[in-house]
Amino acid sequence: MGRHPEEKLTVFVATRFLDVVEAELAEAFAATFASGEGAPLDELAKRDAAGERFDVVLFSLDVRMGAEEIAGLPESVRALATYSVGTDHIDFDAAAERSLAVFHTPGVLADSVAEDAIFLMLAAARRATESIDLIRAREWTGWTPRQLVGVQLSGRTLGILGMGDIGDRIAKRAQALGMNVLYCNRRQLADDASRNLAYRATPAELLADSDVLVITCPSTPETRGSVDAALLAHARADLIVVNIARGDIVDDDALVAALSEGRIRGAALDVFANEPKVDPRYFDLPNVFMVPHIGSSTIEARLGMGRILIEGLGAWQAGETPPNRAA
Ligand code: DGY
Repeated sequence: MGRHPEEKLTVFVATRFLDVVEAELAEAFAATFASGEGAPLDELAKRDAAGERFDVVLFSLDVRMGAEEIAGLPESVRALATYSVGTDHIDFDAAAERSLAVFHTPGVLADSVAEDAIFLMLAAARRATESIDLIRAREWTGWTPRQLVGVQLSGRTLGILGMGDIGDRIAKRAQALGMNVLYCNRRQLADDASRNLAYRATPAELLADSDVLVITCPSTPETRGSVDAALLAHARADLIVVNIARGDIVDDDALVAALSEGRIRGAALDVFANEPKVDPRYFDLPNVFMVPHIGSSTIEARLGMGRILIEGLGAWQAGETPPNRAA
């Protein structure tokens, strides 16, 4: 890919990371960190005009790499490296047109995101929003048998929409909690029976048999808006919807209607369409638990994400095709 394997790749780091991650990037690459003054891709263009050359742009979900942004990248750029497993902020057709290699961070964050999914399931099942509001408002008047009665997860059925690495780890944890696990995926897994997983061919069939739905599929033209009114019409009255994937997979009008009309039990959301904006209707619903996209926010995942990009780019420089190369 044009640079001597001994030479460090020149990397423009467009997003700010933890100090320890930035230190590791600075050690691995000839790295230039965006100053934080103005849009990072504008800064990259200015640096290019001033004669600085970069092989790679390293960024995260805060930098959109659409067709326009990719067309505007300096000629020297040969690869994009996103500090995320999700790649829906990248236009792959535009990247292919420019022959850009694309790297992401699969695997290393899966345990953290799976733990987040379990946290959200439990929070919705145990009415965490109402509980926290009550105690923090200093309005709790004491224990009563009628107070904040939720549901236990043990014995209930979890439906996983999208059965990749993260779905697999959620399934194992849910089974440890005593849940039955169903999944819906484009392909049925060959070993699902031996793993006590039951396949449902369509999201509607999955929903009809689930007490908790966890959305883990990527955001694609097929999945965007797919958790809609037609799908939610198949929901059980006790359903809890958990989204740890991408906000735009859910049709907010449909979910808000199902929640506010009491057609489902609750929802727990880590991700939102149009982040960082949150549909304001969710704030008025006590049966919604929300966190600000923290699925991979653990020190373990954050370190792993930086390291897998360092390893992947190193392998690419050596002429190999690492497993975290997405294109
Ligand atoms: C991802 O990696 O895609 C998460 O949403 C953020 O870590």
